[in-house]
Parts: sequence; C-alpha cells; structure tokens
Amino acid sequence: MTTTLVRPQPMKTIHSYHVKDHSLAEQGKLKAQWAEREMPVLSQIRERFSKEKPLRGLTLGACLHVTAETANLMLTLKAGGAKVGLCASNPLSTQDDVAAYLAKGAGVSVYAIKGEDRKTYYNHIHSILAMLPQITMDDGADLISTIHNQGTNTDRILGGTEETTTGVIRLRAMEKDGALHYPIIAVNDAQTKHFFDNRYGTGQSTIDGILRCTNLLLAGKTVVVSGYGWCGRGVALRAKGLGARVIVTEINPIKALEAAMDGYWVLPMNEAAQHGDLFITVTGDVAVLDKDHFSKMKDGAILSNSGHFNVEINLEALKKLSKSTRKVREYVEEYTLKNGRRVFVLGEGRLINLAAAEGHPASVMDMSFANQALSAEYLVEHGRELARKVYSVPQPIDEEIARLKLKSMGIAVDTLTPEQQKYLTSWEEGT
Ligand code: ADE
Repeated sequence: MTTTLVRPQPMKTIHSYHVKDHSLAEQGKLKAQWAEREMPVLSQIRERFSKEKPLRGLTLGACLHVTAETANLMLTLKAGGAKVGLCASNPLSTQDDVAAYLAKGAGVSVYAIKGEDRKTYYNHIHSILAMLPQITMDDGADLISTIHNQGTNTDRILGGTEETTTGVIRLRAMEKDGALHYPIIAVNDAQTKHFFDNRYGTGQSTIDGILRCTNLLLAGKTVVVSGYGWCGRGVALRAKGLGARVIVTEINPIKALEAAMDGYWVLPMNEAAQHGDLFITVTGDVAVLDKDHFSKMKDGAILSNSGHFNVEINLEALKKLSKSTRKVREYVEEYTLKNGRRVFVLGEGRLINLAAAEGHPASVMDMSFANQALSAEYLVEHGRELARKVYSVPQPIDEEIARLKLKSMGIAVDTLTPEQQKYLTSWEEGT
C-alpha cells in the first residue's frame, strides 16, 4: 500500500512506548486495539458493515488526525467495502506508528508524517485527491477547500462529511456564497458529537497535552480560557477541577453570561492578560492573543491553543515584540520580550491536545466516528437526493448512537408510558 512513511530511526515523536519488541507498525496496531476497547459503538457498526458492505466499490478520501481512534474508523470504512485513503488534517497531529500500521498492515493508503511542512501537508492532500474519492471526510475542511480551489470536476462526488466546528463554519460560508459543489453532513453538529467530543474530549485532552509538555501544577494557577463554546466549557471545567482559578473571555453576551453563572470570572482579554499564568485559546478565530495582550502578560506566562488552526495566538506579533527565542523543552518555545519578560508558547500554537498528547480519548471518538461511518453510509443511500448544502446528521442516527453508547455502558433508561405519551401530545387542561 502507498505510504510516505519513511522516517529514519530513532523516532523523534513522543510516542515512544518502550515496546521494544515490536516494529513501528506493530506498535500502532496495539495502540489501535487499545483504543478499540473503548469504542464499542464503532465496533458494532464495523461488524454490521463487514456483513452488509454498504460502501462496496466506493473510494473514500479522508483528511483527519491520524490517531489510534481514526485507525478504527478507517478499519470500519474498509470493512464496509470502501477503498480508503487517509492524509493528516494537521501537520503535528499524526501518530506515526498508527500511520505505519494502517499503511503496512491494514490496507489503507496513508499520506501523513508527524511534523510535515506545509508543502508536504498539501502534497498529501493532493495524493488523496488523486485517488478520485466519491466521498470526502474532513476535519477542518482542508480537503474540500483544496478540491474547490483547484476547480476539480466534482460530478463523481456523492458528498462529504465534516468533523469539526471550524470546518463547519468554513463550509457554511461556502454554502452561503453558492460555492459549495456537493452536499456535506456536519458531523460536528450531531449531539452525540459536540456534547461529548467537544466538551469532555477537548476538556480533558487539552489539559493532558499542556501537562505532558510542561508538568505544570494547575492548582492555584490563574488559567485564562478564551472562548466558551462546547470546547471552552470543557476546558474551563477541567481546569477548575484541578484547582485553577479560571477566567473566561468571550465575545458572545449569552455565552459570557453562562460562564459568569457557571462561576467563572469573565473579563475582556485586555484585562485578563495581566492575570493569567496559563492561557488556552479555543475560539476558532484569529489573533485572540495579540500584540497588546503579550505586552501586558506576567513574566513566565504560558500560551497554548486548542482551536483547530494555529492562528489564535499571533506568533508574528509575538516574534516582533521579542528579542530572542529558544526551545526549552519538547513543545515549549521561550520568547524573551524586549520588555525583559518571557512568555512560553506550547506546540507552535497548534492544537495542543493532538500535538503534545494523543487527542481526545477513544470513548468520545467512539461516538464522533460512529457518526462519521453512519453519515458515509447515509451519503451512499441519499447523497444524490441532497442539494449542495450543509446538512445535520439525521436525528435517528444521532439517537441510535446515544442508545448504543448507553447500552455499552450498562445504563438503562425509562420509556414513556402510554399515559405520559398521550399527555405530551394533548393541548387540553394541564391538571
Ligand atoms: N480529534 C480530537 N481528538 C482526536 C482523536 N483522538 N482522533 C482523531 N481526531 C481527533
């Protein structure tokens, strides 16, 4: 199978699990199997797919973070009969051992290597496009925007799926401009996706990434969380749980109010900048931490981002304010400002949960990727009936995933009695 995984040993990734007796691909396989233990919903879908082959004869091109959890999604799509190609959706998020396993041991065409430069990143996207996929699967919309920018004929494409908030925002903008060439299912908008993946997945894995590369004690620290969407809510909750004093910054009055009533200190960034020991951006927007903020920060402030793109911390402005930079630890860059203070940037401002840790835990990716697999099946069945729009995951799919997840957790729920059902559908007297 195709692979661009030709990295000389020793590996410089953080994924050194001391599994000395296994090759890189074997290590990746063990990792994928470990994740699979926490992915019972996807496993059930995989079993059904291997019997029914709903994706038979189809080529599916995916641009996703190449992780152990993604490996299980790729195996599910293959089990469904698809020919599958995978490239990275971020230059720093690839787990090379997983990529090696998928390429060498699982029959997936993989184009991804951790730390790839921008040119290689886009070459890899083009390699997926050369496979002429009929379904695209994105995390951040780089695959689909490349297709649209190069003016490719998209007649063969049934549709695409999008995993993340940032990608959905880009795709809705394309729809609004009449620029979208084929239908998209916004997996991110499924409740079984963002309630869990964005909140608990980002919440835990962001803190995980920060702790792995800094070994910081959060208790007693002031943590500034910028953005109080589902991801920000999760990050703030977990930082608070570890004893930090949490400040939230927001632009949306309703979310700011929610943050205040959730017990956080809400401030504009211009004020928060002077208080923070650790800053975590999760807004999806540019220059959230900018020139004026850097100048106000305390000596030793740590800056990190968990939004999809590395645009939230204005590194160009930070460089201009600095007299020197140096790497002080893996994923930690020290900037010494002309005012003599130092600030530390984690993981080049890229999403720290995937750069310095392993991304969201498998248990939440189980639901996100169940949505992906079932959305791909839905596109095979209905893609040709859909308009060039961004669609939600059909409600029955969303609810079925929740039911299966509950069952796998051994949790039973009640059902309405006929009397209760009737009450809810009648508009007569309430008493
Ligand atoms: N996005 C966030 N966490 C992820 C993971 N573990 N695998 C794939 N994509 C992710």
